[in-house]
Amino acid sequence: MTFCFRPLRRDDLVALSGWLADPEVERWWRQPNGLEYLESKYGPRIDNSSATEVFVIEIDGEPAGIIQRYRTSDYADWAAAIAEAAPSLAGVTTAGIDYLLGRPEVRQRGIGTRAIAAFTSQLFLEMPDVEAVVVSVLQQNRASWRALERAGYERVWAGLLTSDDPSDAGPAYLLIRWRSP
Ligand SMILES: CC(C)(COP(=O)(O)OP(=O)(O)OC[C@H]1O[C@@H](n2cnc3c(N)ncnc32)[C@H](O)[C@@H]1OP(=O)(O)O)[C@@H](O)C(=O)NCCC(=O)NCCS
Repeated sequence: MTFCFRPLRRDDLVALSGWLADPEVERWWRQPNGLEYLESKYGPRIDNSSATEVFVIEIDGEPAGIIQRYRTSDYADWAAAIAEAAPSLAGVTTAGIDYLLGRPEVRQRGIGTRAIAAFTSQLFLEMPDVEAVVVSVLQQNRASWRALERAGYERVWAGLLTSDDPSDAGPAYLLIRWRSP
């Protein structure tokens, strides 16, 4: 099984809507669905006028999910939440990633782990100012934090984040992968 990343396109939004409606995705990736909403949220990202860059994960040539990246400093509320949870990261230039595999048959096969590892390495290459990638995960979402750990991230914090994002509601971990020397 091979996978690659390519930029999200407008004609992916129907598939994205289906992935977001998958019960295992809906459980953790909590956001409104529907094409009008998705166009308003992802249109600027597709047009490169957003601080977040979104990529489709293709497995054996078939779109199977998305993975996105952004500089933490571009989202003031999120930067504040991280600074409150992990004051030791003050002054560190960090990025964040989010990901989903939208079809049950592609999950639990090691793809998430491999995709996160490869995407993080690519991020460090393409965003040379970023010193570390920081990800928040709900503690109950074992698949996500284990995939991060297997991709070279370490857990650095556990607690409740100050965030109004529904995906952050509940006890969470922060995991971090530093740029390799
Ligand atoms: C999170 C996600 C990308 C992980 O990718 P994946 O390909 O399914 O995971 P992997 O096969 O690489 O497995 C990684 C680890 O998670 C475990 N795992 C996978 N699915 C699991 C599940 N449903 N419940 C508990 N553990 C699970 C695996 O056993 C492995 O752990 P191990 O090394 O201890 O055996 C994928 O499950 C997903 O898209 N989930 C829905 C959306 C989501 O949660 N996004 C993240 C929001 S923070």
